[in-house]
Amino acid sequence: MFTLSKLAIAVAAASMIVACGKKEEAAPAPAPATSPVAVPAESTVEVLHWWTAGGEAKSVAELKRIMQEKGHAWKDFAVAGGGGDNAMTVLKSRVVAGNPPAAAQIKGPAIQEWAAEGVLANLDETAKAENWDTLLPAVVADVMKYNGNYVAVPVNVHRVNWMWANAAVLKKAGVASAPKTWDEFFAAAEKVKKAGLIPVAHGGQNWQDFTTFESVALGVGGTDFYKEAFIKLDQKALTSATMTKALETFRKVKSYTDAAAPGRDWNLATAMVIQEKAAFQFMGDWAKGEFTAAGKAPGKDYICAAAPGTANAFTFNVDSFAMFKLKDATAQKAQGDLAAAIMGTEFQEVFNLNKGSIPVRLNMDMTKFDDCAKLSSEDFVATASTGGLVPSIAHEMAVPPAVSGAMKDAVSQFWNNDKMSVADGVSSIAKAAATR
Ligand code: BGC
Repeated sequence: MFTLSKLAIAVAAASMIVACGKKEEAAPAPAPATSPVAVPAESTVEVLHWWTAGGEAKSVAELKRIMQEKGHAWKDFAVAGGGGDNAMTVLKSRVVAGNPPAAAQIKGPAIQEWAAEGVLANLDETAKAENWDTLLPAVVADVMKYNGNYVAVPVNVHRVNWMWANAAVLKKAGVASAPKTWDEFFAAAEKVKKAGLIPVAHGGQNWQDFTTFESVALGVGGTDFYKEAFIKLDQKALTSATMTKALETFRKVKSYTDAAAPGRDWNLATAMVIQEKAAFQFMGDWAKGEFTAAGKAPGKDYICAAAPGTANAFTFNVDSFAMFKLKDATAQKAQGDLAAAIMGTEFQEVFNLNKGSIPVRLNMDMTKFDDCAKLSSEDFVATASTGGLVPSIAHEMAVPPAVSGAMKDAVSQFWNNDKMSVADGVSSIAKAAATR
């Protein structure tokens, strides 16, 4: 559990990130500003996010455009680093310094923690005027509320348990279709390797390892196991034979990655699939934003399929913005406009078309969306009634950040150390899950 006093510890780390932070990845130039001339300073919205890869930057540029059209100036507070760990550290330092941004990309149980600190604004007025209670799935609305009041606004629904594949690479390797089971997957990976290509494109941050791990565990153990182990953090499930099998499978996946994976960003791994250097990537559908930005078509250039063994499940990852308490009435009005814009149909469509996710707002027209998004949308609804809809632990939707952070580290220690036994991997992950 974090507290504002603990936040101070983050300040030093944050300044290091700012000082040593690599340059943001090249992104297409945002849409030209349509902003009117002089905008009062109070009407400027400063928005912290970590959307700096190609498809991500295109998506956030649309929010900027919409806000500018509403007469607000946009102050971009982008902190590079997939998965958002860097962004969260920098955010903490800004809040400790008493200078929070108007809005910040915060999600899952962390929203509750920030709200408990008393620093978040109440968005009920906008939520009521815009009917959020009827426009949002209950499972999402609950996460956005603290003590019954809205303190955050959801942007989208990302599905995490995807497997992306390059169609030409599969053809070249003689793989007829996307593998549906882990056995089929390893048979396909062998063929790709024999064809002289990289079977699995993987990157080098711990959140990427955890992203792959949760899909493997879900595929090996099924949703009941996933819920016991990664939502309830049940020690019996975490130390079970299923967990052993999941780690064995996870290690086998690693044997099909290339030696240059450590340190690689997720979007560069996606680029390896786009450029026909690698066959598969396990990644949420923000990867589709990269395929889209590169002009690639699903079903033709690339294939989206549920990770092996997970077709009846959906690990969800809902991006959202929490608003910080600001004193000035004009600044508060700008926050309200931002919140309303995010839930508006225009933004929900154009943002999600670029981002690879699906709208979080119910009953949206999906005509312009591709088959991957349509499948995601159907599976989101279907799994909500079968029990297959589960929060992604790797993307901070399932357990508090302190617990997922410890588990993320343990999973990466296992992934990075081929000499660590599976039994030791199981016990260190289980121990990390007991972090409070
Ligand atoms: C976020 C996505 C983002 C991805 C890579 C995820 O945790 O939910 O919006 O694209 O990280 O940075």
